[in-house]
Amino acid sequence: MSLRAVDLTKIYLVGQGVKALDQVSVDFPPGSFTVVTGPSGCGKSTLLSILGGLERPTYGEVWMGERRVDRLGEGELARLRLGSIGFVFQAFHLLADLTAAENVAMPLRLARRPAARERALELLEQVGLGQRADHYPHQLSGGEQQRVAVARALANRPAVVLADEPTGNLDSRSGTDVIALLRRFNREQGQTTVVASHDPVLLAEPGRVLRLRDGRVE
Ligand SMILES: Nc1ncnc2c1ncn2[C@@H]1O[C@H](COP(=O)(O)OP(=O)(O)OP(=O)(O)O)[C@@H](O)[C@H]1O
Ligand SMILES: [Mg+2]
Repeated sequence: MSLRAVDLTKIYLVGQGVKALDQVSVDFPPGSFTVVTGPSGCGKSTLLSILGGLERPTYGEVWMGERRVDRLGEGELARLRLGSIGFVFQAFHLLADLTAAENVAMPLRLARRPAARERALELLEQVGLGQRADHYPHQLSGGEQQRVAVARALANRPAVVLADEPTGNLDSRSGTDVIALLRRFNREQGQTTVVASHDPVLLAEPGRVLRLRDGRVE
């Protein structure tokens, strides 16, 4: 699915107002893998939140295929996020009281998909954690937790994957593993993938890079 931002501007109404994004227009073609980079505070997280319908722009448009995302109501947005978008965050955000398999199965259960546990186990197998399905997050390393989070993000076969600093809390080895996973799923399943990062490993690889500075595309 294509993802497109048209003249996105985001102003946070705090103090004198913070312009986090300033007329950002960018196209993410179907199946593309894009790294969004730039200095701290340049607007990477804001861009991903708006692309994923977690926040609304002050001005501008977000399109997912033929659908205009920024105009959807809350219920439609929630359904879109659940069924079509996979999020991966820096801090993993796994539910502490659920096992790895239950975490991965959660979006499937919310979407009332059949055979949630079987699909969750299959996904954990794909991220190399088949043996850890019944472990709780605190029993897993950071890198393993993030691989569970990637499996969960992919559970509902989303058309779009958005990852905000997915390697930010990981050592370089685990970070490389997580990036390799995101790349492999993108290559094999064609999710349109956008990764915000200043990880030099990721930036050293060939591919599309979007550079932001002070809320603008460089
Ligand atoms: N909820 C908010 N309220 C007010 N200002 C905000 C809010 N969220 C972000 N900002 C501001 O918007 C700007 C862009 O922030 P954003 O989090 O998108 O940057 P970033 O590129 O992700 O930075 P980092 O690399 O540190 O994660 C910053 O100046 C930030 O202080
Ligand atoms: Mg950020």
